[in-house]
Amino acid sequence: MSEAAAPAVARAETLVLVGCGQMGSAMLRGWLARGAAAEFIVIEPAGAPAALTEVANVAWHRTADELPDGLAPDAVVFAVKPQVIDEVLPAYRRWARPQTLFLSIAAGKTISGISHHLGDAAIIRTMPNTPAAIGRAITVACANPRVTAGQRRLCEALLAAIGESAWVEDEALLDAVTAVSGSGPAMCFC
Ligand SMILES: NC(=O)c1ccc[n+]([C@@H]2O[C@H](COP(=O)([O-])OP(=O)(O)OC[C@H]3O[C@@H](n4cnc5c(N)ncnc54)[C@H](OP(=O)(O)O)[C@@H]3O)[C@@H](O)[C@H]2O)c1
Repeated sequence: MSEAAAPAVARAETLVLVGCGQMGSAMLRGWLARGAAAEFIVIEPAGAPAALTEVANVAWHRTADELPDGLAPDAVVFAVKPQVIDEVLPAYRRWARPQTLFLSIAAGKTISGISHHLGDAAIIRTMPNTPAAIGRAITVACANPRVTAGQRRLCEALLAAIGESAWVEDEALLDAVTAVSGSGPAMCFC
């Protein structure tokens, strides 16, 4: 099917979240409230936060090794710290295929750095900010050429769960976004 004829994809069938700390849990709460996916798979070493333990359509795993065979997610969102993401990414290369969108919120981790581990995959690098916790984030996103229009719409739907979003085509602009909107609100709490 050509991209022009493809149906709008704004809801995932299966969404994988890697890392459910401060930002990951804010996103997951927003996605659950909006029904952003039919099924959520979360990989979090600490297990489910108390408030999310009983949610029906979320499966929790402590490591990627526990993931069931045959899983084919529409999107994999990386919400781990930048200092661990290089160790984390290789376990998800199994899903590097056109149908799976990889989305990272790790500060400073470039698309080429991510594709070094994931290969020729559809990758979106984003920079949200702390107000995600109350659904008021401003997130700026940059996609590589593998990302389809439908995957952009899916990304927009996922980011809408934590606030507003905007695209940039020049990835270098994300460094300024990280310095100002990404880090600014957190600095105000220091
Ligand atoms: N917080 C913000 O305001 C903000 C703003 C913009 C961007 N970001 C980006 O968001 C990302 C997450 O930040 P955060 O503040 O949410 O950090 P966080 O609260 O530390 O959450 C990261 C989570 O990832 C988990 N984790 C570690 N190794 C893992 C693995 N191998 N597989 C799956 N999960 C793993 C951690 O578990 P353990 O604690 O058990 O190790 C932790 O729960 C960072 O890359 C940061 O740059 C954050």
